[in-house]
Amino acid sequence: MTQEKLVELLHSMSLKEKVNQMLQVTTGFFTDEKMLTGPTAQGEIGEENISQAGSLIGLFGAEEYRKQQKAFMEKHPHHIPFLDMLDVINGFRTIYPIPLGQGATFNPDLMKKCASMAALEASVSGIHVTFSPMVDLVRDARWGRVMESTGEDPMLNCEFARAQVEGYQGRDVKEAGKIAACVKHFAGYGAPVGGREYNTVELSENTLMEYYLPAYQAAIEAGAEMVMTSFNTLNGIPSTGNQWLMQEILRGKMGFQGVLISDWAAIEELCIHGFAADRWEAASLAAHAGVDIDMMTGVYCSKLPELVETQVLSEKLLDEAVLRILTLKNKLGLFENPYKDADPEKEKEVILCEEHRKLAREAAEQSFVLLKNEEMLPLNPEEKIAIIGPFAEEKEIYGSWSIIAQAQDTVSIADAVRTQTEFPHVSIAKGCEILSPKEYCLVTQAEAEKIQQRVEQQDRTQSSKALWKEAVKTARKADKVILTLGEHKNMSGEAASRADLRIPKIQRKLLKEIYQMNPNITVILFTGRPLDLRQIEKYAKAILVVWMPGTEGGNAIWNVITGAVSPSGRLPMSFPYCVGQVPISYNEYVTGRPCEDSSVSREYRSNYRDIPNEPLYPFGYGLSYTQFLYSKLSLSSTVLKPGEKLEASIVLRNIGDREGTETVQLYIRDCAGSVVRPKKELKAYQKITLAPDEEITVRFEITEEMLRFYRADGSYGSEKGIMGVMIGKDSNIRESAAFELQ
Ligand code: GLC
Repeated sequence: MTQEKLVELLHSMSLKEKVNQMLQVTTGFFTDEKMLTGPTAQGEIGEENISQAGSLIGLFGAEEYRKQQKAFMEKHPHHIPFLDMLDVINGFRTIYPIPLGQGATFNPDLMKKCASMAALEASVSGIHVTFSPMVDLVRDARWGRVMESTGEDPMLNCEFARAQVEGYQGRDVKEAGKIAACVKHFAGYGAPVGGREYNTVELSENTLMEYYLPAYQAAIEAGAEMVMTSFNTLNGIPSTGNQWLMQEILRGKMGFQGVLISDWAAIEELCIHGFAADRWEAASLAAHAGVDIDMMTGVYCSKLPELVETQVLSEKLLDEAVLRILTLKNKLGLFENPYKDADPEKEKEVILCEEHRKLAREAAEQSFVLLKNEEMLPLNPEEKIAIIGPFAEEKEIYGSWSIIAQAQDTVSIADAVRTQTEFPHVSIAKGCEILSPKEYCLVTQAEAEKIQQRVEQQDRTQSSKALWKEAVKTARKADKVILTLGEHKNMSGEAASRADLRIPKIQRKLLKEIYQMNPNITVILFTGRPLDLRQIEKYAKAILVVWMPGTEGGNAIWNVITGAVSPSGRLPMSFPYCVGQVPISYNEYVTGRPCEDSSVSREYRSNYRDIPNEPLYPFGYGLSYTQFLYSKLSLSSTVLKPGEKLEASIVLRNIGDREGTETVQLYIRDCAGSVVRPKKELKAYQKITLAPDEEITVRFEITEEMLRFYRADGSYGSEKGIMGVMIGKDSNIRESAAFELQ
């Protein structure tokens, strides 16, 4: 439809019909078992609102979608189709690593392919929009949603934000297999005080601009069609009603022209925050902030008509909001083809196809981070291997946002072991559940009940005591133990903040008891966040972080621990020494009393008296099955003039006996600025694969643009002065060279 026709359609709609375009409900409102939530309970969403709702959450399945859309359009006075939205976060049915694991790949191109795969699977099932990518920068592992982020570095987050939007949307969302991206949560949601979910966020404007907004900007520049508001207050004002943030920054400075949707019930929550006195004011504040869609409350559909009739809200502003929604439907081609890609035959063909499984496996393999390896990995065929622990047979290894995923689709480690033939001496023993009943509080009630049912079912064949004993016996008889430990999938994600970052107590007990039997332990760690690994570090000779690896997780893990694939992941987020260190990130300021080496106790320095400053494992860290030697860094010049380039290089050599991939990282420190500058900032990286004895010169170009930042006066640009340059394998790099920016 042409824009003119679209405007004509808009002007042909009544006020209520327009307002109903700004309503989003779940499919429960459409099917027989109506969802009785706040809105219907408050009598705010009636049959007419539902029959004209602009968008839905959670309707998937080509046949069901086509049926619902057909009936809906026949009933709608202007036959306007609804938008169908869903959280497709790390895959639709074929699940790849959680976003924090994606960040560990340091491979945005690979993740773009994964996003494209997810878009294809979702679109043939009727989905038009995904609530992804989540690009919130994170530094606090207590916050459960670090799982959904690509980590603590703004540059890496920008690259992954861009890659995901391009993967979902392609060149044109109307194209088959493409869906619109909704970047979230705007803004600063990843910095809640205390790491406590939905808590207050206080950020200086400089910090917001320098660290937290760039990835949203990258997603918008990549063409993201939608933005979602965040639940939190930012400096005392809830994002969802924050005119400065949404109008001046998002739509003004950042140039976003697409649809702005609230997070779930966030408009209603303006009252609970104590920002709106009542629902009337909440509707007015959100609408004036430019929020176009009210997710899952009746505040808009019950209050906006009157706000317009009493001219508190101009109909012009309302029309702009509705036109943005209609424009998105038009961009998706829904007026010409309201069924878009929804196709039951296509569903059968593409969902979980071998090509998709292969891509998910490759992404998982590249996401794994080897933190420690004292001659444990890779395994060799003649060894007697014991695979022990609650994740040995676990199939729900896909993260808490994989709402369409099905356990039976997933390959567990045990599944992978049972299909391989090269390793004849492998035994499997579960040992214990992920959680004991005392720790069921760490997951939702529903998940706890599922665990309890599994325990009761298990008890019918083997008591938990027998399970434990079998594991200990299996360990004793083995040469090496692969101990699978970590977080339940529901221990991270939304509303999953935690003050204790250790793995569950029952697993810590298993680790110690297995260690007594056999110290040759490799821990395979399933987690949605950085954890306190001091105890695991003490008892394990090798540690492989596998995050939540997804549908092909078992095969990917088996391929890496047997050496078919070398581990190449690098930490996208610091693993703290303990929870007392968080929030922590590699790009902190130096302070006036730095404590460069906290092993030397220094008084009156910026350090703790009881723990080191350094994280247990730093950003960018990861091992491979070989060793790399870095030459001294060389610079093509010690002066960088405006408009010119500088080259920094090192010679990298593989001095081990296996092929390996190294992520060579370039960091820069601006030694003095009108605002203090971080002790280092990742500016570029290159993933280099070398055979044994092979060497290569790794070159990085340094330009003035790379040195720009938000200066004390709020302007964005570089400042002349000395710059330190570091090239290394992770952010712990110290030695550097220097040049002067003139
Ligand atoms: C949730 C989340 C958001 C998600 C939305 C729809 O509360 O905060 O990330 O996209 O609701 O499920």
